[in-house]
Amino acid sequence: MNETAVAPDLRAFMAVALRKQGVVGAIAPSSRALARALTAVVPTGGTPVVVELGPGTGSISEAIRARTAPGARLLAVEIEPGLAGHLRRTKPWLETIHGDAAELGELLAGAGVDRVDAVVSTLPWSLFPGERQARIVGEIGRVLAPGGAFTTVTYLHAVPLAGARAFRRRLRAAFDEVLTTGPVWWNLPPAMAYVCRRPVVHG
Ligand SMILES: C[S@@+](CC[C@H](N)C(=O)[O-])C[C@H]1O[C@@H](n2cnc3c(N)ncnc32)[C@H](O)[C@@H]1O
Repeated sequence: MNETAVAPDLRAFMAVALRKQGVVGAIAPSSRALARALTAVVPTGGTPVVVELGPGTGSISEAIRARTAPGARLLAVEIEPGLAGHLRRTKPWLETIHGDAAELGELLAGAGVDRVDAVVSTLPWSLFPGERQARIVGEIGRVLAPGGAFTTVTYLHAVPLAGARAFRRRLRAAFDEVLTTGPVWWNLPPAMAYVCRRPVVHG
């Protein structure tokens, strides 16, 4: 992204983040370093379907686009109408869906998608009650293709907190493999990523 694109994105992000911390849950857009860590699971070849949850102003979306070849389908589910509108205006190559990640399966069905090769999330998990976390994680597991991967972010300062430990347990119960990346210091705040594969099918 060049500097002229960054300024409107930052303005749009801050306008919503300042009013709605309880929905956005971050003080700044993700850095390129974090975007690289989160999108390493996105296939660079072929025509994958990639879904982003909580795209905000699209810093991760840009990294997904940079990795993928023409023909890939890039979809993004954003709950804030102002941010969804901003994405539609500034990133016409992204299929922006205004909606709630908790309805992921239904939203994707509406877009004609039933299998996803990679799900990349920067959703503010710590703001969600456990039931909502479980619902979204379950929706992700159901749409992932065999061999697909799901990545999500956690902020380093939150790692020892009870809520973050509970979320980790939830991921480990929902996926056969949950790996963590090294710390990404160049982000505000410093962060790391969980990389999850092979959803566990219950019942
Ligand atoms: C921490 S911000 C991340 C923004 C951007 N992806 C980045 O990394 O800079 C979280 C984003 O998730 C969105 N969000 C929160 N709850 C959501 C939900 N249930 N479904 C979809 N998006 C949601 C917020 O509006 C916000 O854009």
